Amino acid sequence: MELQNGSYAIQQVRVTDIAEKFGTPVYVYDANTITRQVESLRKAFRAVDFRVKYAAKALTNVSILKLMRKNGVGVDVVSIEEAKLALYAGYKPEEIMFTPNGVSFQEVSEAVGLGVSINIDNLPTLQKFGERYGNSKPCSLRINPGIMAGGNYKISTGHLQSKFGISSQQSQQILDLANKYKINVNGLHVHTGSEIGDVDVFLKVADVLFSLAKNFSTLTFLDFGGGFKVAYKEGDYITDIESLGARLGEAFNKFCSDYGRKLELWVEPGKFLVSEAGNLLVKVNVVKETPALTFVHVNSGLNHLLRPMMYDAYHEIVNVSNPAAVKQKYTVVGYICETDTIGADRDLNEVREGDILAVKNAGAYGFSMSSNYNSRLRPAEVLVINGKTELIRKQETFDDLIKDQINVDL
Ligand code: LLP
Repeated sequence: MELQNGSYAIQQVRVTDIAEKFGTPVYVYDANTITRQVESLRKAFRAVDFRVKYAAKALTNVSILKLMRKNGVGVDVVSIEEAKLALYAGYKPEEIMFTPNGVSFQEVSEAVGLGVSINIDNLPTLQKFGERYGNSKPCSLRINPGIMAGGNYKISTGHLQSKFGISSQQSQQILDLANKYKINVNGLHVHTGSEIGDVDVFLKVADVLFSLAKNFSTLTFLDFGGGFKVAYKEGDYITDIESLGARLGEAFNKFCSDYGRKLELWVEPGKFLVSEAGNLLVKVNVVKETPALTFVHVNSGLNHLLRPMMYDAYHEIVNVSNPAAVKQKYTVVGYICETDTIGADRDLNEVREGDILAVKNAGAYGFSMSSNYNSRLRPAEVLVINGKTELIRKQETFDDLIKDQINVDL
């Protein structure tokens, strides 16, 4: 979204026109931003045999999955339902990586049945996998590298206290099981956390993975997960993707030459691919002055965008209806009966009732973490592609709230 001749536009489509056409609240995604992000990753990792697996949990709309596939991007899924969505979107099973955490073995077997790649994140499941499949089905292993990194504790997944992955300190147990059942381990995987700005962290994690990897002769790939930090406001620190691609690529190529064979290098970003592509457009219901603050109540809240309340995440807010007006201080809140601050103490161009505000960086973990809390309806989703707007999900209706409820006679 950028200012073009005094109004905000996405690919020359005026943002206020999108709000008018589809109503609010509405999630709007820019296909060009997604394509640009994919290309910048490919460019950064040009020195290696590179594969991008989109972490679908960030934004699972089927049209977004199709767009990813069109861009040559594979997909990482964390539930059997996400796997089915990816298949529904046209992915071939072999393009889908299934990385669940703590699921039943029945779900793992179902995924094997679908033909997707299986990534195992605990020793009991590895044992069961060996007992059931021996060397007849390949699998990869999610390793917990024992490294604390990530934007906040809730999204740090690679440290020793984290529930994710098989600890690198349990490498002997991993090897014992793999040898006992002759398991065909075709890849090793890490996802250390989300919003890791420091390239050195990825290099440290890579060392952990390399030292384990040399014990397996059957590998075809190493997957370094996602977690690349994007800017949520101007001047924000970000992961320097060019530097990451160059440095990790070099370390990886060196590992491959020691290993004696060329492997594929996989990454699995969610936020990097879709965060900046998305805006949540909301309408101002009420501007409320109190002795302390000026609140802007919008027709949305933590039911549609949970990140500010869940992680204290900062999302920039823009008044797209009044871009030339003088800035004033506002606290933007939702309409949910619970504290649901979207942005506190923000300098916004004068806000009036009925104005449209854009909440930025809403593409990743926006819609996908939304709910019907307060029995509110989830918003529509719109994709801007080839200069046109496409409705890719209808706004829910009251029927959606009751369609699965059973109204028993009481
Ligand atoms: N791979 C695996 C196995 C993951 O669990 C995740 C995210 C990713 C890749 C992608 O991470 P990303 O590139 O998006 O940072 N809801 C939180 C983020 C949770 C991330 C969970 N796992 C948020 O809104 O900040």
